[in-house]
Amino acid sequence: MKILTILGARPQFIKAGSVSRAISLHNNKVANEEKIKTKNQKLITEIIVHTGQHYDANMSDIFFDEMKIPKPNYFLGIGGKSHGAMTGQMIEKIEEVALKEKPDWIMVYGDTNSTLAGAIVASKLHIKLAHIEAGLRSFNMKMPEEVNRILTDRVSNILFCPTDTAIQNLKNEGYENLDCKIVKSGDVMQDGAMFYKSLAVKPNIEFKKDFILCTIHRAENTDDEIRLKNIFEALNEIAKEKQVILPLHPRTKKILENLKLDINNLTIIEPVGYLEMVWLIDNCDFVMTDSGGLQKEAYFFEKQCITLRDETEWVELVACGANTLVGANKDKILEAYKKNSEFRIQNSELDLYGSGKASENIVKGLWDV
Ligand code: UD1
Ligand code: UDP
Repeated sequence: MKILTILGARPQFIKAGSVSRAISLHNNKVANEEKIKTKNQKLITEIIVHTGQHYDANMSDIFFDEMKIPKPNYFLGIGGKSHGAMTGQMIEKIEEVALKEKPDWIMVYGDTNSTLAGAIVASKLHIKLAHIEAGLRSFNMKMPEEVNRILTDRVSNILFCPTDTAIQNLKNEGYENLDCKIVKSGDVMQDGAMFYKSLAVKPNIEFKKDFILCTIHRAENTDDEIRLKNIFEALNEIAKEKQVILPLHPRTKKILENLKLDINNLTIIEPVGYLEMVWLIDNCDFVMTDSGGLQKEAYFFEKQCITLRDETEWVELVACGANTLVGANKDKILEAYKKNSEFRIQNSELDLYGSGKASENIVKGLWDV
């Protein structure tokens, strides 16, 4: 079986890392099997295409190096462009690679422009498409991610869903009547968090007593001056009392450079690698973020999360009390900060995202279609 994996943005390197590891475990197992005849048919060859959507060393290379993710076979170098230019150029280049490699599967992750480009190529060339993190919805069509994930789901042959909610979303949209397979795989980010926890690295920065870990990068916040101002005013105020460590996404950095906001109390650092990030999550008091991935990671490490968005795809975290949605309202952010020091979930027996076996479930699932 040959898989063409398409990735390009930071969270995709982290997610794909776990699946690549499961693929090599699968191949090792097959190699040790006794029935020699079927061995070659059962082996998986993974060809990795990096679109170049994220390209700074600390947004891309660091993950491949630190996490020992297999290096991409193709690097397309398409980043820092408008949605149309980026997605269009990715489609053109991924198509060339797909025609040359003739994979059995194209595999895409999440909801970025790289995801959509891979999905469109697969559907046009009639290559089977596997979507990992399928079925998630924010029900906000203004988000580029919502458009990308809906379009990708619709042309996928197998939809690997991380949660029961994701499955239900697909059922509500009539997916049971479509020619595709829906599988509850669990969440690949949980696999990564469990695997890398013991390898965490303390970043070389000045720490005060306790700290909040914060990230901001979503377009709905960065591209709306009022929202961004409210968020940073609240964070700066909080940072007078408690250290706020903010590894700053380059998108947000560029926008902040042109706004005259008072952010002097914040501990702003460059984006960090995953091993440093895991250390920060594991050692912080709690998390404030608009990231999708970080909301779940906070839960994996039993940290309360304040989400600086109006809605979330990870609704089960809000339902169990681990996550508070505050949008970009300064008063709500400050109020949530005052309440949010202890991790509290209503049912500690909850197994919301699988038990760290999502990647293995995905590799198994591909053989059944
Ligand atoms: C993208 C995804 C978003 C995801 C995020 C993960 C889309 C539409 N959005 O958003 O869903 O949450 O990745 O981090 O796909 N930049 C750099 N260096 C880099 C990368 C980006 O300077 O290595 C700057 C460039 O100015 C670029 C801007 O950030 O134009 C935005 O990058 P882009 O990839 O378009 O979107 P993200 O905001 O990163
Ligand atoms: N992350 C990281 N370094 C950072 C910030 C985030 O390794 O400086 C990790 C984070 O732990 C999570 C992933 O990047 O695993 C989330 O990516 P991001 O927030 O960029 O995207 P989203 O999940 O919102 O799509």
